[in-house]
Amino acid sequence: MKNLLIVANWKSHKTIAQAIEWLRQISNLPEKKIILCPSFTLLSEVKSAITNYQLPITLGAQNISPYDEGSYTGEINAKQLKEFVDYVIIGHSERRTYFQENEEMLSQKVEMAKKYNLTPIFCIQNEQTELPNNVEIIAYEPPQNIGTGRADNLEDVERIVKFLKERQIKTILYGGSVSPANVRSFTSLPGIDGVLVGTESLDADEFLKIIANA
Ligand code: PGA
Repeated sequence: MKNLLIVANWKSHKTIAQAIEWLRQISNLPEKKIILCPSFTLLSEVKSAITNYQLPITLGAQNISPYDEGSYTGEINAKQLKEFVDYVIIGHSERRTYFQENEEMLSQKVEMAKKYNLTPIFCIQNEQTELPNNVEIIAYEPPQNIGTGRADNLEDVERIVKFLKERQIKTILYGGSVSPANVRSFTSLPGIDGVLVGTESLDADEFLKIIANA
């Protein structure tokens, strides 16, 4: 049996009330590792609610400053994040596309995460994406399959798994239109250790179905 990792990426969604309601609906979690990545503004309340409801959920952030603490207006640094989360998503295609994050900046982000003992979940779009040193968790997220309801085909995923295994990547996730109906086809592939879920993680019931079916 694999010890599956299920990551929920809420992106820029949910108010505090909506986040707490989602957590209230989450119960009877099976033996899978769940990492929830909410917006920064939700972290404090979500962390308290997870403790109160005694949920086996670990927190992750969706972004991190490439700089340490200092005069960087608007940035949230790794030391601040460490008060709430153990993981951080780095290199998501939406960050690369809409916020012009380049390889150099992404490597700095990975370095900062490591410095403060946060585990990066580094996203790659294809084999051409540069892999920073020392990342243990890679999420393969083809941009053309994100948020479209059309997941990638299994042959592509298997090809990327082979490519990443050759580069000694320990943990490999698939992300891009993962749903209750298709999750198993990915998690049953040898070499796939879990999934990164966007849209279908926003609804607690759908997310619970994904966890159950994975
Ligand atoms: P999606 O998003 O599940 O809505 O396709 C996945 C992601 O971008 O992390």
